[in-house]
Amino acid sequence: MLPKSNTVLLAVLAAGRASAQLHKYVDPFIGTQGTVPGTGYNGGNVFPGAVVPFGMVKLGPDVATFNSSIGANAGYLPDGNVTAFSLTHVSAMLVSSNTFLPEHASESHVLVDVSHYLPSFGGGNQAQWYTNGEIQASTDGTTYKGWGAYRGTFSHIPNYKIYFCGRFDHDPESYKLFTGPYTDPYTPAGLNAQPTFSNKSSVRGGPEYYQYGKRVGAVFTFPSDCKKLQSKVGISFKSTDNACGYIDEEVPHWNFNKTVSEAEDDWEKVMKTITTTDFKNDTRLQMFYTGLYHTHLMPTNRTGENANWETAEPSYDDYFAIWDTFRCLNSLWTLIATDHSIGMIRSLIDIWRHEQFMPDGRSGNANGQVQGGSNSDNVLADAFVKGLTGGINWKDGYAAMKTNAELIPWNNYDTGDPTGSTLEGRGALSDWLQYGYLTPYFDRSVSRTIEYSLNDFAVSQVAKKVSPHDYQKYLKRSAGWQHQWDPSLKSKNFSGFVAPLFSNGTRDPSYDPAVCPGYCEFGGYTYEALGWEYTWTVPFDMKSLIKFMGGPNTTERRLDAMFIPGLKTGGVGSGSLNGVGNTLFNPGNEPSFATPFLYNYLPQRQHKSVMRSREILDAYYSNGPSGLPGNSDSGAVDSWMIWSMVGLYPVVTQPIYLILAPMFTNIEMKVGVEGKLLKISVHHQSDNAMYVQSLKINGKKWNKSWLSHDDIANGGTLEFVLGKEPKAWDTGELPPSPGHYTIDKSA
Ligand SMILES: *[C@@H]1O[C@H](CO)[C@@H](O)[C@H](O)[C@H]1NC(C)=O
Ligand SMILES: *[C@@H]1O[C@H](CO)[C@@H](O)[C@H](O)[C@H]1NC(C)=O
Ligand SMILES: *[C@@H]1O[C@H](CO)[C@@H](O)[C@H](O)[C@H]1NC(C)=O
Ligand SMILES: *[C@@H]1O[C@H](CO)[C@@H](O)[C@H](O)[C@H]1NC(C)=O
Ligand SMILES: *[C@@H]1O[C@H](CO)[C@@H](O)[C@H](O)[C@H]1NC(C)=O
Ligand SMILES: *[C@@H]1O[C@H](CO)[C@@H](O)[C@H](O)[C@H]1NC(C)=O
Ligand SMILES: *[C@@H]1O[C@H](CO)[C@@H](O)[C@H](O)[C@H]1NC(C)=O
Ligand SMILES: *[C@@H]1O[C@H](CO)[C@@H](O)[C@H](O)[C@H]1NC(C)=O
Ligand SMILES: *[C@@H]1O[C@H](CO)[C@@H](O)[C@H](O)[C@H]1NC(C)=O
Ligand SMILES: *[C@@H]1O[C@H](CO)[C@@H](O)[C@H](O)[C@H]1NC(C)=O
Repeated sequence: MLPKSNTVLLAVLAAGRASAQLHKYVDPFIGTQGTVPGTGYNGGNVFPGAVVPFGMVKLGPDVATFNSSIGANAGYLPDGNVTAFSLTHVSAMLVSSNTFLPEHASESHVLVDVSHYLPSFGGGNQAQWYTNGEIQASTDGTTYKGWGAYRGTFSHIPNYKIYFCGRFDHDPESYKLFTGPYTDPYTPAGLNAQPTFSNKSSVRGGPEYYQYGKRVGAVFTFPSDCKKLQSKVGISFKSTDNACGYIDEEVPHWNFNKTVSEAEDDWEKVMKTITTTDFKNDTRLQMFYTGLYHTHLMPTNRTGENANWETAEPSYDDYFAIWDTFRCLNSLWTLIATDHSIGMIRSLIDIWRHEQFMPDGRSGNANGQVQGGSNSDNVLADAFVKGLTGGINWKDGYAAMKTNAELIPWNNYDTGDPTGSTLEGRGALSDWLQYGYLTPYFDRSVSRTIEYSLNDFAVSQVAKKVSPHDYQKYLKRSAGWQHQWDPSLKSKNFSGFVAPLFSNGTRDPSYDPAVCPGYCEFGGYTYEALGWEYTWTVPFDMKSLIKFMGGPNTTERRLDAMFIPGLKTGGVGSGSLNGVGNTLFNPGNEPSFATPFLYNYLPQRQHKSVMRSREILDAYYSNGPSGLPGNSDSGAVDSWMIWSMVGLYPVVTQPIYLILAPMFTNIEMKVGVEGKLLKISVHHQSDNAMYVQSLKINGKKWNKSWLSHDDIANGGTLEFVLGKEPKAWDTGELPPSPGHYTIDKSA
């Protein structure tokens, strides 16, 4: 059951595995379960079905539990009933048409239900529906085609169409097309709805663009001696011709095993971007390679399949969401999946060209679900400062970033936040332009101020070369978080936090950065994380932050406090979702990602970053189905693990990496478009040695806790000696603060 990018060949589900290769370490069920065994709640939501790297088809089961707490984003859940196998999903949302056999043991039917969709019982804004469809079948019933239209989801999509084309390798005995009443299939009325069979060769739900079409589908009946049936289904966002054409192009034969082994080869190529000779620990290898697999599922490469406009540029969809991926997943792609990074950035810029704004979240060909800043800015800047070219039009790229920074998007009056757009751009830009920070008139005013700060730092880094006269302006704006800094705000023995600030200069005396009153969500001061966590998120100006916190020693103690068990009281996010563990540091959500590694900014404290990375991996990651701390978020969580195991961590929007300690003795990474070799070797002085004793980079003795992208962009060598005890090896220059700027608050 292995699809090419736009086609799937379905057969008896026997996934063959090639001999001892790296992809054998991938277990697609890691991250499919939550903390309660047998259930998906607060799990990784990863997609465990058939897919090729960044492929458009993600064929897998849709499972319904009828519990509004549980969103089966990826279709699969460990409990509940399988309602269908559908062709498109996200790894961590939605839709479409396909097979589900009625229970008559002596009969063989294939049901193609165009009106099937993956329900979202809880999501409010994320609910989705079938709206319309059409299906036609050939006279002999061996082929069928048509389209389904769906709407909703987090991007509030008005309607989008998926065209399909299906073929069987056996003639059906008979087939019937059907229509059904427009009823929500997940209600009792829907469950009891009866189809009306038709003897026509084509049925349709309603007129073009109708939002309440009748349900449509087909039942194909095969002779009872048909023991093995193969089916191919192609999909397209543009036409049934494309959908049928992909079948001819990608799976012209009926050789299931050939399709399986081609998909395995594609995955093996991905796995080979990071290889090791250290095969001692299978658990670790399973975690690592499954993580690498999860980072190559989304966003979906839809080049040639852009439904909204004709373009020669690459097209990607299913950005779910850049808020999650910008911190360390995009940097991973830029290093080891450079073509993909280039394609994605070109697609983001092309979306700006044709739709005015780059997305933060996007699915079903529409922008939506901005959770904080306009984080495409960070993605572009991160690639720009690392010299990424590959046909990226940086002049347009900068104009797209500048649109985020200057143009107030229209308000879509989202019920979750009616104060500004949640679809694209920066919904609270008016305050940012007027005050340099967000007042509590806008919700999430604290977390969005700190995110807009990073966004403007990102703009400044591209401006520096593309539009130098803008550089100072955006650098200055990037210090906006300093307005909200409240030096007198105390929490757990520490003082100085980012905190809500009214335009008249007063504060909310009830604000506590250690708790989320109600939810830290839409409607709160911070989004999905505590004030304690957001206070650390200014990677571009750690120098000011450390100074404001009282110098390196206090900063170290404050970092230590992030990891004290039991200091967190209460959850973050909706319900207890997005919160894992009971430390102020939250291993299960992105705002906390870089915090464990900030010790590298303190003199001779790199060893503590290593210690934290190991503690966190051991406590929250495993090779079991509950092996991810919460939602994988398109592989963002997995990328955190990959970096930790490789022994590096990217500082987003800067061409640098913080140095940790590798968890394999030998690693070879293929970096850049040409796949040049970065060789990482480790000499362990003893068992369980994890602390850096010494390091050589490209043959030179190294005393800095960080390295530049240039040091490894063309491959190179990192030679670590690790010992049992920490050693003060990191005596060199501290990591830079290229956004260092002090706001004059008296002005
Ligand atoms: C396909 O692969 C499976 C699993 O490796 C094997 O059992 C089967 O015999 C193969 N089928 C054919 C037709 O080669
Ligand atoms: C729904 O799932 C949540 C999380 O597992 C659980 O707490 C709750 O009891 C479930 N509700 C029902 C009605 O089963
Ligand atoms: C699954 O289907 C069975 C049989 O129809 C039903 O009894 C059960 O309640 C369903 N389970 C869920 C979680 O919907
Ligand atoms: C299709 O069904 C209609 C009504 O049931 C009937 O009048 C018509 O003759 C049928 N057509 C064919 C080609 O069977
Ligand atoms: C293997 O790796 C896992 C994950 O890092 C770790 O928990 C375990 O202790 C390791 N086993 C051995 C024998 O080192
Ligand atoms: C994206 O898809 C297009 C069309 O299939 C293909 O040519 C291109 O190589 C893909 N990009 C990457 C990075 O794989
Ligand atoms: C804060 O100070 C008190 C009193 O010295 C101490 O008991 C407590 O552990 C400290 N808390 C933290 C988080 O350092
Ligand atoms: C400042 O503004 C806040 C929010 O509008 C208001 O509640 C507060 O009373 C004002 N304080 C003063 C001193 O004007
Ligand atoms: C910081 O701590 C180090 C040792 O832990 C000590 O030598 C140094 O004096 C301290 N610095 C300050 C400013 O207290
Ligand atoms: C760190 O290394 C650099 C380059 O080799 C050297 O110039 C510098 O003196 C070293 N600093 C310390 C404190 O060891």
